[in-house]
Amino acid sequence: MAIERTFSMIKPDATRRNLTGAITAMLEEAGLRVVASKRVWMSRREAEGFYAVHKERPFFDELCEFMSSGPTVVQVLEGENAIAKNREVMGATNPADAADGTIRKVHARSIGENSVHGSDAPATAAQEIKYWFSDIEVVG
Ligand code: TYD
Repeated sequence: MAIERTFSMIKPDATRRNLTGAITAMLEEAGLRVVASKRVWMSRREAEGFYAVHKERPFFDELCEFMSSGPTVVQVLEGENAIAKNREVMGATNPADAADGTIRKVHARSIGENSVHGSDAPATAAQEIKYWFSDIEVVG
């Protein structure tokens, strides 16, 4: 399996509770390496752009409101099978359905305030990394 990169976010519910280090440690323990990281307070417009694929969904407004409500840590993660591995360590979207030991099971508060984001496929990973990082900010 080739080395892959994926895009990750530690969402405002988690930064607010000072969980940046705890969540990053869970990612690292899963074998993922942080090759880019920065803290951003995204604007409503940036949130809408990032989540444009969901714009017809009923939760879109609430999602963009939440994502622009406080700081987020955006990261690029690298490792073998990084996209699937990150999704696995994140757990299911709804923390009530997430497996034991996953980030969302341990830390998320609700389906909306679910602590982390992770790309779901190679094409979205590339697109999401490009949305937040320039090439020289990613240091493998
Ligand atoms: P989605 O891409 O389905 O989940 P995931 O983050 O696990 O890839 O949804 C994106 C985000 O939208 C999700 O993390 C939280 C929010 N959301 C809601 O607020 N309510 C919902 O019913 C769903 C499905 C998602």
